[in-house]
Amino acid sequence: MNHAVVTLHRVTPESAHLLDAVDDDVFDHAVEPERAAAFLADRSHALVVACVAGRVVGMASAVVCAHLDKPSSLYIDEVGVSGRFQRQGIGRRLMECILAWGRERGCHEAWVATLPTNHPARGLFRAAGGIEDPDHAVICGFPLAESAPDAPGR
Ligand SMILES: CC(C)(COP(=O)(O)OP(=O)(O)OC[C@H]1O[C@@H](n2cnc3c(N)ncnc32)[C@H](O)[C@@H]1OP(=O)(O)O)[C@@H](O)C(=O)NCCC(=O)NCCS
Repeated sequence: MNHAVVTLHRVTPESAHLLDAVDDDVFDHAVEPERAAAFLADRSHALVVACVAGRVVGMASAVVCAHLDKPSSLYIDEVGVSGRFQRQGIGRRLMECILAWGRERGCHEAWVATLPTNHPARGLFRAAGGIEDPDHAVICGFPLAESAPDAPGR
C-alpha cells in the first residue's frame, strides 16, 4: 500500500499547469496543450485530476449533455488511474468529485460506458453507486478519421 498524499483538483483554464506532469498511463495518450486548453475553455466540460507530489496520477473527464426536452445529463467520458496507484480508492474519489460537479451543473443523471470485460471499471462504477443497464446497451462507433480508435468504451 502506497501512503502518498493524494489531492484532487477540478482543472480550469487557470490551473491547466497541473497537466504539465502526468504519469504515462493516466490518459490513453500524452496530453496535448492545445487540445487541453480547448477542452478546459468549454464550460460544459469537466476534468478532475488526482495529484501526488505535483504529478497527475489519476483523472476523470465528463461532458454535460444538454437536452431540449429534459434536464441535462452528465456523460462521464474517461476515468484513469496510474497503475502504481490503482486499488487505493483514487478512482472512487474521482467519481465522487465528477458526480458532484454534474449535480452542481443541474444534471439529473450521469452515465458511463465500458466494455463488459473491464472488471476494474465495472467494479469502480458499481462502487460509486452506478446501476448497470439490464438491457445491455449496444454502443456503435463511427470512425470519422483514419486515426480513429477501433472501439469505443475501452
Ligand atoms: C478502473 C480504474 C479507474 C479504477 O481505479 P482505482 O483507483 O484502482 O479504483 P479504486 O481503488 O477507487 O476502487 C474502487 C472499487 O472499484 C472496484 N475495483 C477497482 N479495481 C478493481 C479490480 N482490479 N478488480 C475488481 N474490482 C476493482 C472495487 O470494488 C474497488 O473497491 P475496493 O478496493 O474497496 O474493493 C483503474 O483500474 C484504471 O485506471 N483502469 C484503466 C483505465 C480504464 O479502464 N478506465 C475505465 C474506462 S473509461
